[in-house]
Amino acid sequence: MKRTTYAGLVDEQYIGQTVTLAGWVQKRRNFGDLVFIDLRDREGIVQLTFSAANQAALDVAQTVRNEYVVAIEGEVVARAEGQENKKIKSGGIEVKVTKAEVLAEAKTPVFDIEDGVNAGEELKLQYRYLDLRRPEMQKNLRVRSKIMASATNFMDNNDFINIETPYLAKSTPEGARDYLVPSRVYPGSFYALPQSPQLFKQLLMGAGFDRYFQIARCFRDEDLRGDRQPEFTQLDLETSFMSAAEIQELVNNWVKQIMKDVVDYDLDTDHITHLTWQESMDRFGTDKPDLRIAYEIKDLSETVKDSDFGVFANAVKDGGVVKAIAVPGGADHYSRKDIDKLGQYIERFGAKGLAWMKVTDEGLNGPIAKFFADDAAEAVLAVSGAKAGDLLLFGAGRADVVAASLDYLRRQTAADLDLIDQENPWRFAWIVDWPLFEYSEDFDRWIAAHHPFTMPNEEDLHYLNEGEDPHKAHAQSYDLVLNGYELGSGSIRIHRTDIQEKMLKALGFTKESAEEAFGFLLEGMEYGFPPMGGIALGLDRLAMLLAGQDNIREVIAFPKNSKATEPMTEAPTPVAATQLDELGLEVPEQEKAEKE
Ligand code: AMO
Ligand code: AMP
Repeated sequence: MKRTTYAGLVDEQYIGQTVTLAGWVQKRRNFGDLVFIDLRDREGIVQLTFSAANQAALDVAQTVRNEYVVAIEGEVVARAEGQENKKIKSGGIEVKVTKAEVLAEAKTPVFDIEDGVNAGEELKLQYRYLDLRRPEMQKNLRVRSKIMASATNFMDNNDFINIETPYLAKSTPEGARDYLVPSRVYPGSFYALPQSPQLFKQLLMGAGFDRYFQIARCFRDEDLRGDRQPEFTQLDLETSFMSAAEIQELVNNWVKQIMKDVVDYDLDTDHITHLTWQESMDRFGTDKPDLRIAYEIKDLSETVKDSDFGVFANAVKDGGVVKAIAVPGGADHYSRKDIDKLGQYIERFGAKGLAWMKVTDEGLNGPIAKFFADDAAEAVLAVSGAKAGDLLLFGAGRADVVAASLDYLRRQTAADLDLIDQENPWRFAWIVDWPLFEYSEDFDRWIAAHHPFTMPNEEDLHYLNEGEDPHKAHAQSYDLVLNGYELGSGSIRIHRTDIQEKMLKALGFTKESAEEAFGFLLEGMEYGFPPMGGIALGLDRLAMLLAGQDNIREVIAFPKNSKATEPMTEAPTPVAATQLDELGLEVPEQEKAEKE
């Protein structure tokens, strides 16, 4: 039997035709001389009917179980009146089966193949091929595929050249920890899986390709989160002789096409906001603001610095800040207990408490309201913009702690109260004018905020000179943010050796250590590299958002779990002693014992 169409595509147009279908048994209802089977393939489900009129086919139907793979031939007929199923494409018809064959039997699946099934994440990952049979997962991976097709198509139409760069590369200090691959030929030497194609794409500009792109797999050994996997995919591009503004416009058009092709959304690129990094931090407490939420963070430091409420006055006195959000309608929604819970949550950011007041028609309400009478109350209301019915949530203390706390509270309260704008569901923003450096608590030193090849703002170049403070410099870098997620990140690059050397020096590299790490790039620059810039968009994150998911695992066929392992194949696994020998590697006995 040769398949003529997909089960999920058969509809009223097929009535009267004979079709041959193949797929999985979703469900069987057995009434003896009448059997119904829901047949599933990648396009959806169709109802099959088996009756005594075709005894041989009915006999086959009697034997099948859920998830058997079957092929059938039959006639498409309209369903009896009242029997239609409006929810599926094939809901107006059914197929009267004349011939049936079992192509493969199946064990009872470890969980039901249906969306929203109640099964643990580990189990679903262990039987990923079963989980991927679900309609939602089929849809998610097709969203991903469409993004890739649309992105490639746009790049091709805009004269970009698709160039692959190595996965077995040199370990360079770029930000995250590398995944290393030991060399058999040179025991003790290692390749590193690339954290991104960054250096290669700069070299390709040096080689004169002018416009490069790649759908590139990247590898980073870092702690995992809902929007982070150890291996992920970038839509990576680099251009020569273009300004930051021109690159942003190009990316706007790229994203516009993807939005049209994948979710049929007409993105008005004129409405993509530009915010400086500072403005974003001030107004939203984060460098990736969710602009679908209307209320913003207000600075009340000046307003409350002489307040009788010690927590606020002391925060300002100690060099900190007092900021607040006014959550519309929050006064009635949150009980004291709810607010305590929010307060507990933000302890992870270092918050020492969560001061709050409710705004009523009569004025301010709550345990600290007594400190804000008359003028003080009016000032708080004026600066915070709070109205009757709002809940005021305050952060007081170190600026970074307050920012992280209020960013979280803003997003959480908006989710709780349904205050996320649905009219404009896709809020893109460019975050520009970033600091060139940021202080890393982990490393206890200054690191490149983006990466060490980011060009400082022209007017800030002098900060890199001897005797000046390089950490004051800002960079020609830009992030594209969508609905509170960092979608992409890029910059104009340093293309001159003199600036690159100063930058590396500011990062604490000596001439020798810079030579060892990036010598090939620094040497390349001496052979005439063009001004260049580019960006990489996280494809997994884009796919996650366009598929309406909240974890990038849902748009990756075989992802790692939160412990960076893959429950189906059980990677990573120990390897044979002979393999280790060949690589000149030894695993200490103690570690082996701990693993066992
Ligand atoms: P960056 O490191 O910011 O820039 O990465 C670019 C984009 O890749 C996505 N991304 C991730 N997605 C899933 N899991 C991860 N672990 C992960 N890490 C990053 C994000 C991010 O915005 N070479 C530069 C780009 C450039 O300057 O052109 C780079 O890699 O969406
Ligand atoms: P206290 O005077 O410590 O009992 O705190 C009074 C109120 O201020 C409580 O609601 C605390 O949660 C809150 N609070 C204490 N410290 C801070 C802080 N650093 N930022 C915001 N609120 C705080």
